[in-house]
Amino acid sequence: MRRNRSDGWVRQLVAEKVLTPADFIWPVFVKEGGAQKEPVPAMPGVNRLTVPALLKAAEQAAKLGIPMLSLFPYVPKEKKTEDARESYRADNVIGKAIRALKKAVPEIGIMSDVALDPYVSHGQDGLERGGRILNDETIEVLIKQSLALAEAGCDVVGPSDMMDGRIGRIRDALDAAGFQHVKIMAYSAKYASNFYGPFREAIGSKSALGRADKRTYQMDPANGDEALREAALDVAEGADMLMVKPGLPYLDVLWRMKEAFKMPTFAYQVSGEYAMMKAAAANGWLDNDKCVLETLMCFKRAGADGILTYSAIEACELLKKL
Ligand code: PBG
Repeated sequence: MRRNRSDGWVRQLVAEKVLTPADFIWPVFVKEGGAQKEPVPAMPGVNRLTVPALLKAAEQAAKLGIPMLSLFPYVPKEKKTEDARESYRADNVIGKAIRALKKAVPEIGIMSDVALDPYVSHGQDGLERGGRILNDETIEVLIKQSLALAEAGCDVVGPSDMMDGRIGRIRDALDAAGFQHVKIMAYSAKYASNFYGPFREAIGSKSALGRADKRTYQMDPANGDEALREAALDVAEGADMLMVKPGLPYLDVLWRMKEAFKMPTFAYQVSGEYAMMKAAAANGWLDNDKCVLETLMCFKRAGADGILTYSAIEACELLKKL
C-alpha cells in the first residue's frame, strides 16, 4: 500500500477527492449601521458586517471562486417581537443586503436562512404559545419570509426551522408567486446541537433563548434513521438540495443521506466546530490551517457536494498555497 504514498505527485495522482473553492458556501453575518466590522468573540476571524463591508467581502469571495454566500442577520433587541414581523419586512437588513449584492456582485449566488430565531424575542425558530412551538402557524410566517427573500433576489432559500411540512408549503408559495427559479436547500437533518453556541451569540439570539433549548423540533443526536425519513419528506416536498448539520460529528448521517437519495447534499461545519479549531490553535495545540483543510476534505470523502464553512476564505487562500 505504501508505494502509492511515496511522493507528493503520486499521492496527488491517486487522491479520490479534491477540494476546490467551488465546494464552499460562506456563511456571513450582516448588521445595520455602526462599525463596518464587529468581531464575534467566540469566532475569531469572523465579523458581523454592514452592507458596504459585505459587498467588499462578497467581491473577494467571488474572486476566489466561492459560488455562494449564506446570509444571517444580526437583529437588535428592539426589532425582535413575539410575532417575528421583522422577518418578512421587505426592507429588513437581509432584504437590503440581497438587493445590494445582486447589483454589485451579480456573479455570486445568495442563500439565506428561513427561520424566525433572529427575529423573535424568545429566540426559538418558530412562534410560541404556552411553552409550545407552533408548527402550522410558524409555517405561515416562514412562507412570508421566503417570499420576501425571493422578492429581494435571493437564489436559494434555506429553511432551517425544522417545522413539519414547510418545504412543500414554501415550494407551492414560491411557484404561485412566480418564483419557480428560486431553489430550496432543506436543512433536512438539523440536530438539537450544542455546537451552535457561538452562532447564537453572533446573531444575538443567545440571551433571548436563555436556558431554553430546541429539542421539540430539532433532531435528537441519537437518531440516524430518522434523518433519512426527514430527508425523504423534504425530497418528496420539492427540496432541490439537502443539508446535514452540524458537520463532523454527523458524517455518518451525511454519508447515509447521500447514498440513499443521490441528491446534491451539503454539510454545515457549524460555529462550534470553527471555534474549537481556532481555540486549540490559539493555545498552540493544533495547527489551524492544516486542520481546516483536513476537516473540509473529510466532508468530501463522506459524500458532501459542498460545505458551509466559516473558514471558506481562509481555505481558498490555503488551497492556493498547496
Ligand atoms: C437558526 C440557525 C442556527 C444555525 C444556523 N441557522 C442555530 C440554531 O438552530 O439555533 C447554526 C449555525 C452555526 O452554529 O454555525 N435556525
